[in-house]
Amino acid sequence: MQKKRIIGTTNGILVIGAALLLAQTTSWLTGTGDQKFDKLAGIQPGLGTVMIEYAKRFGNVYYAAQAGNWGMAAYQLKEAVEIQEVAETTRPARKALLQGFESNALVPLANDIVKQNLDGFKRDFSTMVTMCNGCHAATGFSYIVYKLPDRPKVPAKLDTGQKFTTQELQTILADLVGGTPAPAITSGGIVNGASFALAPAPVAPGSIISIFGTNLAASTAQASAVPLPTQLAGITVKVNGTPIPLFFVSPGQINAQLPFEAPPGRATAVVTSSAGDSRSETFNVASSAIGIFPFPSSNRAIALNQDGSVNGPENPEGRGRVIVVFLTGQGPVTPPVPTGRAAPLDTLSPAALPGAATIGGSTAPVMFLGLTPGFVGLAQANIQIPSDITPGAQVAMSITVGGQAGNTTTISVK
Ligand code: HEC
Repeated sequence: MQKKRIIGTTNGILVIGAALLLAQTTSWLTGTGDQKFDKLAGIQPGLGTVMIEYAKRFGNVYYAAQAGNWGMAAYQLKEAVEIQEVAETTRPARKALLQGFESNALVPLANDIVKQNLDGFKRDFSTMVTMCNGCHAATGFSYIVYKLPDRPKVPAKLDTGQKFTTQELQTILADLVGGTPAPAITSGGIVNGASFALAPAPVAPGSIISIFGTNLAASTAQASAVPLPTQLAGITVKVNGTPIPLFFVSPGQINAQLPFEAPPGRATAVVTSSAGDSRSETFNVASSAIGIFPFPSSNRAIALNQDGSVNGPENPEGRGRVIVVFLTGQGPVTPPVPTGRAAPLDTLSPAALPGAATIGGSTAPVMFLGLTPGFVGLAQANIQIPSDITPGAQVAMSITVGGQAGNTTTISVK
């Protein structure tokens, strides 16, 4: 019965509602569902009561944003919208105006908060105040002119020094900025696209990399032509600020080519979708960092026998013969191939760094190491199987380039 008290003191119409309540005691809430609703709505506080708290919240939004406490700004805005939604329900006559105000004034403000853009926020806040007063004029209250209080009234510390991610702010303001959260790269989630070797394992310039995360893309899409695009299904990935070629995007994984131009050392990546930027993720780049492509959920190398058929336990290759093993991360090639473009079909581009291999524990001659013609970022090693090894369905094979060993895989030898 707390509502009754608020009613009696604020609004003539509601005093009548309260009197009715007293006179009829138990019998007042009768009729159809709609009639009951109308009666209940009639005893709710009017816009005036709602507006007092509403207006207070906006002062809090402003000062929280100014103090860089974007979490508090988001929270205060969310609370203001909740009060507004109460008003939309209990004052259906004002609903359309309030909803228009929400999409024209509050959504831009919410986006500024999510982007932590103070300049944009101040601009949109002042536009909003114009719209607040515009609605007062439109509803016959032109003498109610909102003024930002000189000081914050929020009974909480504003300068907490806390940092906020786009995603955190987006979650608080999901009702205003829509349900699509910004992309997030998993910590350590930038890896060699063949071996998936965990960070801090480096990746090499020119190689195929995989980026793991959440909300990276809204849907799944694959590049359909070369040179590879730097935007796919609205997604871009920037490494050290430059967009990189994309093979594939999906909510949880992106496959891309690390540009040949990426210098060895620490690098940063940011994934951008229509929902915003991910936090920048740091990863290591080394001049070579090979990964051999395995079959899914196995360490069996994807390799071709000398006759071009796929190597496997059912189709082993003989000792002394040459297999082709697919990998990425060999580093620089001569002549160079531009980033995003397929290796030419008429000119081979061997690796600039020396390669070596062992199969079954014995040194195996590398006949060719370089880019696979017609593909982007894909390389191959043509390796002769030593004749002195023990055959088997799973014979260990490792390849090093520039002294760096890749993942250990197996091939089948007869
Ligand atoms: C849908 C139109 C509408 C919008 C939008 C609107 N108001 Fe109001 N506001 C009103 C009406 C109508 C009243 C008069 C209350 C009543 O119905 O008795 C009011 C009253 C007020 C009051 C006086 C409350 C009191 O009783 O002391 C303040 C302060 C106020 N509004 C601030 C704001 C602020 C700040 C905004 C923008 C963030 C805003 N209003 C947006 C319609 C609106």
